[in-house]
Amino acid sequence: MKEDLISIECLDEQEIFAILDLTAKVKADRAKYAGALKGKSIGLIFQKPSNRTRVSFEIGMVQLGGHAIYLGPDEIDMGGRESVKDVACVLSRYLDGIVARTYKHDDVRELALYADIPVINGLSDRAHPCQALTDIFTIKEKLGTFSGVTLAYVGDGNNVLNSLMLAAAKVGLNMKIAAPKGYEPSKELAGIARRFAKASGTKLEFLNDPKAAVKGADVIYTDVWVSMGQEKDSKKRLKAFKCFQVNDGLMKAAKRDCLVMHCLPAHRGQEITDSVIDSKSSMVYDQAENRMHTEKAILLQLLG
Ligand code: CP
Ligand code: NVA
Repeated sequence: MKEDLISIECLDEQEIFAILDLTAKVKADRAKYAGALKGKSIGLIFQKPSNRTRVSFEIGMVQLGGHAIYLGPDEIDMGGRESVKDVACVLSRYLDGIVARTYKHDDVRELALYADIPVINGLSDRAHPCQALTDIFTIKEKLGTFSGVTLAYVGDGNNVLNSLMLAAAKVGLNMKIAAPKGYEPSKELAGIARRFAKASGTKLEFLNDPKAAVKGADVIYTDVWVSMGQEKDSKKRLKAFKCFQVNDGLMKAAKRDCLVMHCLPAHRGQEITDSVIDSKSSMVYDQAENRMHTEKAILLQLLG
């Protein structure tokens, strides 16, 4: 039966570690996997812009010997020109896999429901599982372990945080989350993350104070305050988040050797200052590079 990657909730701990292990192998020996997906094709259905997700999947597929076709909003207009179901059923006859970036999470779910081929969520309003897998891979690569490591997330309770907290809770990476009141992750997902954390013995704390969150943390993570599709709420959001900037002052409240992550794109001067994102603590470009290795591992797992 085909397997999809829609949300971190759907993966068990072994499956997550299997992707991390394969990511390390793919990164260490690119040549070994050069023909692994020869003759296979994927479609990238993107309703929103993308740099990392699009390029890493497209070029990752080429590096594995396969082919990728980009289907932007103007090409197929999924849900407008034709239904999600018809897109899923037709593309299943042409392709071996789909990566979808949508506004509505339900659209990715529906694609997966009707497609006979694996569907990978390349970001929806609820989840960004490929990013979370890269992020925990990068933390393990830099710090060698999850055990005893604390990740502080400062900012919006959005798609990136949703997937990251679920992944952290599954693999035993402690997490402290600081979001402004009213912008916390949904109760439903926080509840699921708490259950996973209890099962794995992971510490997971939900706070509203950035300084309390970064105290004692090994890594600080942030993301934009205005995600794609939320532009009309920009003014309100910028006001709500103004005390949640990752800046030199906040870095002083953290451990001296604390590392910094951001999924990118960054809105420099909003959620993070140049002085922090360009500092020696920042690992944002290594993190971005790792998207490529993780996407290749995901493609190998689902299509190989
Ligand atoms: N981090 C990430 O998903 O970047 P893009 O939006 O550029 O794909
Ligand atoms: N939260 C951001 C992540 C971009 C990779 C967004 O959805 O726009």
